[in-house]
Amino acid sequence: MTARLVVLVSGSGTNLQALLDACADPAYGAQVVAVGADRDGILALERAEQSGVPSFVTRVKDFTDRERWDEALADKVAAFEPDLVVSAGFMKLLGPAFLARFGGRTINTHPALSPSFPGISGPADALEYGVKVTGCTLFVVDEGVDTGAIVAQTAVPVEPDDTVDVLHERIKVAERAMLVDTVGRMSREGFTVDGRRVRFGG
Ligand code: GAR
Repeated sequence: MTARLVVLVSGSGTNLQALLDACADPAYGAQVVAVGADRDGILALERAEQSGVPSFVTRVKDFTDRERWDEALADKVAAFEPDLVVSAGFMKLLGPAFLARFGGRTINTHPALSPSFPGISGPADALEYGVKVTGCTLFVVDEGVDTGAIVAQTAVPVEPDDTVDVLHERIKVAERAMLVDTVGRMSREGFTVDGRRVRFGG
């Protein structure tokens, strides 16, 4: 069975592209059935179009409050009947309505080694702190900010002359490999979440 992925994006979509490329091989075991965004005019949406994958945009500002946006986003995603929702550079927190429907099968990639440096500026915060090793984390989304059960992590060195952009780019190379590898395993082997332990296999 091929796992159905809905990928949520907000920016350049290089993680999305890595998944689209991996899914071109039927043996990978997954297929991107839709791409959802919280804003228009981003490269990630062009990537979806170029791959012939349907996309939708659900903007917070088109709703009276965050809860309604969250419900609308959940409705949009549900229409594509995903097995797995992949938040890949999606810069919004998913709320209770979304997690009531997709909790336990929504994963997010974060450019830091959790539990260090949660939030939207992981690479900058790691650089500022002066750590010598940082990395990326793939986790099952819960109601916290980057607090969910960890599925995979990859360490990345911080070099002495790094800028935020240089460090983030180095992290993203590791992040794309981690994402493709892990989503493939989750799709082919299944996975279980038991408290904070995530295991591959049905
Ligand atoms: C990735 O590094 C992702 O981890 C990060 O945004 C980048 C998106 O890159 N997400 C967060 O910081 C969320 N807290 P991409 O659009 O090229 O895939």
